[in-house]
Amino acid sequence: MQYIEFGKNKDRVSKIIIGLMRTAEMDPAEIAELINTGLEEGINYLDTADCYTNGKAEDKLGQTFAANPGLREKVFLQSKCGIRNEEFTWFDFSKEHILEAVDASLMRLKTDHLDCLLLHRPDALMEPEEIAEAFDILYAAGKVKNFGVSNQNPIMMDMIRKYVKYPIMTNQVQLSAAFTPSLNAGFNVNMENDHAIMRDGGLFEYCRLHDIVIQAWSPYQYGYFQGVFLGSDKYPKLNQVLNRMAEEKGVSAAAIALAWVLKYPGRTQAVTGTTKPARIRDAAKATEVTLTKKEWYEIYLSAGNELP
Ligand SMILES: NC(=O)c1ccc[n+]([C@@H]2O[C@H](COP(=O)([O-])OP(=O)(O)OC[C@H]3O[C@@H](n4cnc5c(N)ncnc54)[C@H](OP(=O)(O)O)[C@@H]3O)[C@@H](O)[C@H]2O)c1
Repeated sequence: MQYIEFGKNKDRVSKIIIGLMRTAEMDPAEIAELINTGLEEGINYLDTADCYTNGKAEDKLGQTFAANPGLREKVFLQSKCGIRNEEFTWFDFSKEHILEAVDASLMRLKTDHLDCLLLHRPDALMEPEEIAEAFDILYAAGKVKNFGVSNQNPIMMDMIRKYVKYPIMTNQVQLSAAFTPSLNAGFNVNMENDHAIMRDGGLFEYCRLHDIVIQAWSPYQYGYFQGVFLGSDKYPKLNQVLNRMAEEKGVSAAAIALAWVLKYPGRTQAVTGTTKPARIRDAAKATEVTLTKKEWYEIYLSAGNELP
């Protein structure tokens, strides 16, 4: 496993993160097996969110910690707030909501602190001064050790950075071999085709410039939750290339897909959402694989992309 230094205390955290979005229907014993398998492979970072199955994923993780004394201390625990699912889904970065949401997460997770808190999806009505006040209170109370964002563009991060005194440690954004709008825009600067449209304001480059860790979510998915490209007949060329490289390097195609994400420069992490311990073991091999630049581009092209 490869590690990066993360946060104020320079915690040594794995480049692969176990995402727990899909775990609400699992037993605590199954979740413990998933996490312990990750720990055996050197994966020590967990990602969840208050909105995953309306608190149920956090609840199950809390039950898992309660049933396995010592487990909480072995992991770097990250959760997110700011997405509200009530009569409909909306976004809320108000001070009041951030404070309430973190207290509710800590209660469900049966822990006294989060190692990192992310603001989940941008709230157009956010008041950065309120975010700053909420973060001050959470930090002073020892409830949150580090802060970050998710799905934010550079201007949004600048607005938060102007008021919040803690660094934005990470931006969690979608990236996979079959989901590359940000990279496409970079390859097509000043061209007239649709790929040239920059929708994110250069967030990947911005994160590197400002030493913000990129956490890539859904590394095996195409589209917005449309499905997994691994083994999918929608991506025959991509699978052919991944399988060939997997055979050449003695790992799974999934590990090659993760290695592709992790090759993005900077302190990039990948958040895998498998619920299967065996697939966690496969995923862990990704940091032992070296993809050449040429191989990286071959995977990009085999997903149906073109270069100018
Ligand atoms: N910040 C955000 O807005 C945001 C949004 C979405 C997700 N996330 C985070 O990112 C994490 C990962 O997201 P994700 O679950 O969409 O990511 P993912 O790892 O791309 O996809 C996981 C899915 O792929 C399946 N899978 C894994 N390996 C496979 C294989 N070899 N063949 C076929 N299917 C395979 C898994 O099924 P099995 O369980 O059966 O292995 C699971 O259903 C989440 O848990 C969450 O922590 C963040």
